[in-house]
Amino acid sequence: MAGPFADKEIVLGVTGSIAAYKACEIASRLVEGGARVTAVLTKNAQQFVGPASFEAITGRRTITGMFERLETPEIEHISLARRANLFLIAPATANSIAKAAHGIADDWLSTTLLATRAPVLFAPAMNTHMYQHAATQANIQTLKARGCYFVGPGSGALACGEIGEGRLIDPPAILEAANILLCEKKDLAGKKVLITSGATHEPLDPVRFIGNRSSGKMGRMLALEALRRGASVTVVSGPAHVPLPYDAAVINVKTAQEMLEAVKERFAEADIFIAAAAVADYRIDNPAEEKHKRNGEALTLSLTPNPDIAAYAGIQKRPGQITVGFAAETHDLIAYAEEKLAKKNLDMIVANQVGGENCAFGSDTAWAWLLTPGNPPEQLHLIAKEELTGRIFDAVAALL
Ligand code: CTP
Repeated sequence: MAGPFADKEIVLGVTGSIAAYKACEIASRLVEGGARVTAVLTKNAQQFVGPASFEAITGRRTITGMFERLETPEIEHISLARRANLFLIAPATANSIAKAAHGIADDWLSTTLLATRAPVLFAPAMNTHMYQHAATQANIQTLKARGCYFVGPGSGALACGEIGEGRLIDPPAILEAANILLCEKKDLAGKKVLITSGATHEPLDPVRFIGNRSSGKMGRMLALEALRRGASVTVVSGPAHVPLPYDAAVINVKTAQEMLEAVKERFAEADIFIAAAAVADYRIDNPAEEKHKRNGEALTLSLTPNPDIAAYAGIQKRPGQITVGFAAETHDLIAYAEEKLAKKNLDMIVANQVGGENCAFGSDTAWAWLLTPGNPPEQLHLIAKEELTGRIFDAVAALL
């Protein structure tokens, strides 16, 4: 089955938190993403959720007790511990974290955690004071030092009526963390990737702007792929419709000038720079400080060219630094892309055909070509954006 979790064997440990019901959604998304999921409910978790829901979602027997007679040998704990690609404990209570930190093995989940060599990802959920307690923090540090991973917790209103840190972080963040951990190719480990993403909005007055169309999907997927492959990622993002990965450092900007300033501050330390933003080519000369009133007369705007951020990168780059840009064109794609590659002194251009049915904007697929100086364009045909980002970083890694 295709998807971000294709063919992965995942053990989903659910412990006794009020957030246990959210584990159903997590299980469902993992299965949708192609994973084979075995849910394990601790005794306390069963006070909040039942095995039947997880069995319906995963199509597998849910494990509820240490000594139950298992129908299928593949979920016998040592065998599953061996085969699992990931142990995800969501929600993870203070107690389950404490037991894992101290090697206590008194039920199926804690026993199997000791037996597995698979990565273990905890998504904590508890009261703020319990989370901040020195004992819990020390347990988390112990587990991290041993190579376990944590995602969250989030902040907000807690079931106990308090507001603070301790909420189970939203399922999309948990799935994203699992996706990053499950990627075996870590060829960008230690590399710093800087990405521009989204559109820019150039103000006309305090309520109006001119700008390009951009969902920010490509920037998001590039950031996620770089994280999966081990890079640390910074995204300078203009306005966009999709959230950026939780593990990326995000600098939000509005205008092209702000985007350039943010890039200037971070460019020198980046190993790889990718200009994926749809930057508005012009800005309005003198944006009004007050809202423009409609008076029935024609309005003429005077526009000034915006700085070219990709070209800035092309001028500034030092040996070994890789710069990548995009070219989205309705016609003469390759010719324009080649011109941009040379003019902006980039190491690679991803050329996208726009317009028509599989228009690059907002779509999940793109017609794409990869162009590098001195080589014939590599045609990737109609490709899912997720796969495209993989191909882009394969090409970037080859250039490094
Ligand atoms: N780009 C940029 N800063 C700009 C304009 C473009 O960084 N002010 C980057 C884009 O992020 C993209 C590449 O340059 O990676 C090409 O963008 P595109 O809009 O296709 O090209 P332009 O240079 O603006 O040329 P035109 O609009 O005339 O096609």
